[in-house]
Amino acid sequence: MIGAGWAARFVLNGCDVRLYDPAPEAADRAAEVLEDARAAYGQLTLAPLPLEGELQVAGSVAEAVAGVKLVQESAPEQLDLKRELLAEADREAPPEALFCSSTSGLRPSDLQAEMARPERFCVAHPFNPVYLLPLVELCAGGRTAQATVERAAAVFRSVGMRPLVVRTEIDGFVADRLLEALWREALWLVNDGVATVEEVDDAIRYGAGLRWAFMGTFLTYRIAGGEQGMRHFLRQFGPALEWPWTHLTDVPELTEELVEKVAAQSDAQAGGLSARELEQLRDRVLVRVLQALRAEEFGAGATLAAWERGLLGGSEASVRRVPAEWVDYNGHVHESRYLQLFADATDALLGELGVDSDYLAAGASYFTVETHLSHLRQLEAGDRVHVTTQVLDSDEKRLHVFHVLLCEGEVDPVATAEQMLLHVDTESGRAAPAREPVSTRVAELTARHEALPRPDRAGRSVGVR
Ligand SMILES: NC(=O)c1ccc[n+]([C@@H]2O[C@H](COP(=O)([O-])OP(=O)(O)OC[C@H]3O[C@@H](n4cnc5c(N)ncnc54)[C@H](O)[C@@H]3O)[C@@H](O)[C@H]2O)c1
Repeated sequence: MIGAGWAARFVLNGCDVRLYDPAPEAADRAAEVLEDARAAYGQLTLAPLPLEGELQVAGSVAEAVAGVKLVQESAPEQLDLKRELLAEADREAPPEALFCSSTSGLRPSDLQAEMARPERFCVAHPFNPVYLLPLVELCAGGRTAQATVERAAAVFRSVGMRPLVVRTEIDGFVADRLLEALWREALWLVNDGVATVEEVDDAIRYGAGLRWAFMGTFLTYRIAGGEQGMRHFLRQFGPALEWPWTHLTDVPELTEELVEKVAAQSDAQAGGLSARELEQLRDRVLVRVLQALRAEEFGAGATLAAWERGLLGGSEASVRRVPAEWVDYNGHVHESRYLQLFADATDALLGELGVDSDYLAAGASYFTVETHLSHLRQLEAGDRVHVTTQVLDSDEKRLHVFHVLLCEGEVDPVATAEQMLLHVDTESGRAAPAREPVSTRVAELTARHEALPRPDRAGRSVGVR
């Protein structure tokens, strides 16, 4: 589950992955997870995803870790097994490789105990599905170097995650401590016949669960405290904490009877959907939740937006593979996707020119006011494409560009787009001169591009013969 989820996140972020798992079905399972993750990313973002990395299956630990930059151990939650695996991988991997474990609650000091280079190890605890949920808890062991945690944070941030550094080494870290308290109580409620599994889930998903997605616990209660915030809330509800509402740390005994009761109710709750169908439903809904949060740039939505800005701001000509979801019922790549590719190229150009989040926040931006597209030949799913951009002209308010969409290694364009962009003061909503440093960069780039030949198709309108 978790190893395959990591593999999918890294592959879709353009990294090559080698997977080692002795179970014969692991490779098929990883391929399924990657397929689901690809579909989810297709819905999640319009940002240009990098060319996918390659997913390979290795026959041994040594083969898996040869030459790698990161080892992400995701084996079953057994201390001895993980320790041995980490020690073996530590002997075989390049000395500079970073080592992380997905453990949900084992202590990093115990896990790194048999490593020859324990300083390069920390816990990186993700959440399922790893390819969609951004949280990764990082926790250092007693022999972990501070630089290792910082390096790990940078790696996970670069693939769209939100690293949360756990300050102290504790069992269960932060998130699973919270989740376990809820889980324990949920099992008691079912064990005692107070509620069914469905009713326990309803008690969360129709209420607090909807808030948790973006407010967590403390922000929720702060708002509940009204104008006086948390002080009022704690004064009002603090005493109730002393009432014996919960079973606290008592654990219901997992008797055959309880296991059967929970499992039977849970099967009924699934309503005949297979595990894979439930996962796909989960992914579709998570994508929409993340998109709603992105619209507010809040919580996990802010992480998503930062990742997308990184993808759009890539300075090298980025090659993308045309995803299968872009093909419509006619078997053609839908025409809106051509505009999407050109719009992404415009965004990348603006990023290069200094139109970044600070510039936008200061109330200035370029708006596209006109586009002329020429479709010259068909794109197919799987084609590797890139866009070149030429500035034809500019003045203090206007930026006139010409894009060419090319298949990798070919010279004949697939499509072209000519666009006029207008610089706008977003507060007044009116055209206004570009500000520094953008105006100087636009002028410099325009001067450089004047030396380029003018494209044949520049200046065309819809031709009537
Ligand atoms: N399931 C979750 O929601 C979740 C969330 C976060 C972290 N984790 C952690 O991730 C780790 C894996 O959990 P999972 O849920 O993916 O379990 P899983 O059972 O789905 O996967 C574990 C995999 O490890 C393989 N394996 C067994 N022995 C191995 C060995 N010697 N070398 C390499 N692989 C071996 C198994 O064949 C299996 O495919 C655990 O440490 C768990 O605590 C799980």
